[in-house]
Amino acid sequence: MMEQTLAILKPDAVRKKFSGAILARYEKEGFRICALKTRLLSKAEAEGFYAVHRERPFFASLVDFMVSGPVILVVLQKENAILAHRQLMGATDPAKAEKETLRALYGESIEYNAVHGSDSAETARFEIPYFFSTVEIVG
Ligand code: CMP
Repeated sequence: MMEQTLAILKPDAVRKKFSGAILARYEKEGFRICALKTRLLSKAEAEGFYAVHRERPFFASLVDFMVSGPVILVVLQKENAILAHRQLMGATDPAKAEKETLRALYGESIEYNAVHGSDSAETARFEIPYFFSTVEIVG
């Protein structure tokens, strides 16, 4: 099934100039980049995006990190894109991520983990329109 997923290149990856390598990897792995923009998120936007985690002890720190510098928001499309992107990212904690996954290559800690990806079809249906209007996505 052709699917779309939201990827975020997080402030740590952008700051370290890993964006080009990550985007190149997406294309190499057969994803199509349907939409892309650089944004400095507001605190309210980051809190809303990660609202499912608001009771977690790391929530405030996660929000502070996500607004600490520009992020690159990307809509990726491919057959089974959501699972394919999750596999390409690797485990949340880069120390536990498989070799050659994006988080193993570019992440440095469970919080500074370089990339975000939608974790289910339901999440993607929330996350993609959170940042992109229909006319911005070339499917
Ligand atoms: P992400 O895939 O963007 O979804 C939620 C984020 O919360 C996750 O990546 C991590 O950056 C962060 N996160 C998850 N677990 C922890 C944790 N135990 N401590 C700090 N940050 C975490």
